[in-house]
Amino acid sequence: MGRNKNIKYARAEVLSNVIQNTKPEFGQQKGHWKSNQFLNNHPIVLELGCGRGEYSNGLAKLFPEKNFIGIDIKGDRLAAAGLQAQKDQLNNVAFLRIMMQFIDDFFEENEVDEIWITFPDPRLKDRDEKKRLTHLNFLNKYKRVLKPDGILHLKTDSLPFFDYSIDTLNLNQFDIIAQTNDLYESPWNKDHFGIKTRFEQIFYDKGFPINYLRAINKKEV
Ligand SMILES: C[S@@+](CC[C@H](N)C(=O)[O-])C[C@H]1O[C@@H](n2cnc3c(N)ncnc32)[C@H](O)[C@@H]1O
Repeated sequence: MGRNKNIKYARAEVLSNVIQNTKPEFGQQKGHWKSNQFLNNHPIVLELGCGRGEYSNGLAKLFPEKNFIGIDIKGDRLAAAGLQAQKDQLNNVAFLRIMMQFIDDFFEENEVDEIWITFPDPRLKDRDEKKRLTHLNFLNKYKRVLKPDGILHLKTDSLPFFDYSIDTLNLNQFDIIAQTNDLYESPWNKDHFGIKTRFEQIFYDKGFPINYLRAINKKEV
């Protein structure tokens, strides 16, 4: 591990907004995120695979009446995200370092109001299908923690990944209510709030159109 990366791991330790397995609160907030972490009763919005947290931090600034939790496994990226949130004095955002496979160990059924999946690794090789963040195994878990009629958003540069996700969402009773292969030229551009994630900026600069969809979690109450 490089020196810089080491420093960022250490920084996560002292950042109260980054929760990782070295901290006492790790795994304790399930069902108590509002009361224990945010000390309010505001809706919870997750960003899955948040990387350096540009989107979570950007949305947290725009929507102080919502709580945002960026989730990723990369400690150095989350440390950068948490540090930025601290600099911006954002009290309504936190970062959780876990493998997404365990998301339902960290959130109670129906605890989450909204989910964003931003530029996930497409993992297009057949043998990697189960690692795609929109594989049915993951969607089953998101479905459980997301409240009935809660919204799931997906943004990706990868058309094959987008098409794959449309199929798995349909199979898992997510009702797709908005869909475009060119977000910036679509009526939904305004819902993007002018915030570009790091990967989004890279693809945007290369001239790639951004695929976007929004789906409702249909489930029995
Ligand atoms: C391509 S990056 C996108 C980062 C950010 N959303 C952006 O748009 O700049 C994908 C992120 O997903 C995270 N990720 C991929 N699979 C994961 C998993 N199973 N559990 C937790 N994080 C995961 C990676 O660590 C990485 O930071």
